Amino acid sequence: MAQSVTPAPVPRHYLMCRPTHFAVEYTINPWMDPAAGVDRARAIRQWEGLRDLYLSLGHRVSEIEPIDGLPDMVFAANGALVVDGRVYGARFASAERTPEGPAYLDWFREAGYTETHEPKYVNEGEGDFLALDDVVLAATGFRTEAAAHQEAERFLGRPVITLQLADPRFYHLDTALFVLSDDRIAYYPGAFSTGSQRVLRALYPDALLATEEDAAVLGLNAVCDGRNVVIAAEAVSLAHRLRALGYTVHPVELDELRRAGGGAKCCTLELRDVPV
Ligand code: ARG
Repeated sequence: MAQSVTPAPVPRHYLMCRPTHFAVEYTINPWMDPAAGVDRARAIRQWEGLRDLYLSLGHRVSEIEPIDGLPDMVFAANGALVVDGRVYGARFASAERTPEGPAYLDWFREAGYTETHEPKYVNEGEGDFLALDDVVLAATGFRTEAAAHQEAERFLGRPVITLQLADPRFYHLDTALFVLSDDRIAYYPGAFSTGSQRVLRALYPDALLATEEDAAVLGLNAVCDGRNVVIAAEAVSLAHRLRALGYTVHPVELDELRRAGGGAKCCTLELRDVPV
């Protein structure tokens, strides 16, 4: 991997949802144990730390109003996929999260986004779609249907590459892979089928390969602006390797949200090209 890192990151615009109603009340991924309970006040403090970090890095953060009865709404990444100001809406796999799809789409319409698409197929937004400059990487296997990949490709006008997830702990693409720059990714190979591992190797021979230990603390659920990487504090060895490549690493404590299977990226939906 080359050593050079983008010198000055372009300010990003993120959408976030305060975990006002956060809870683990049902189980839709292996991380969620309703019997274990959550400390909501602590989740809110950790989330505020993440939001404040983005602001201190010069990024803009918009917030969507949390809705009572939707305890997973804090995971804004699942709310949509936005590319070139075009908003491909989410359609959740589980009944528990289904109302979040229209709620997020309403936010976009009210915020002035005119190009929005109500999806026909099940897809969980940036949880399973990650945009690079020329392509969108997309996962199927646990949540998002492969037909949604084609639907998104047609709506966004960007080629979408289908990847197959294979380990239920890494049920969304953003738990197994993150984008460092427009041609550079980090991922945990074991989260993918052997065919998709071959595809990733062919497309990104210089990718940073994470270990199972990195992945098991949701270290790949990270957010990068080209220079800064916001990453789970427990992902120590991955952080070390990112620093060696020249990235500025910002460890964040989000273990309370990890009880629902989410980390920094899950809480963060990137808004690309905001209408004025
Ligand atoms: N409990 C949530 C779910 O299973 C967590 C979602 C995490 N979001 C993400 N982008 N991976 O749907």
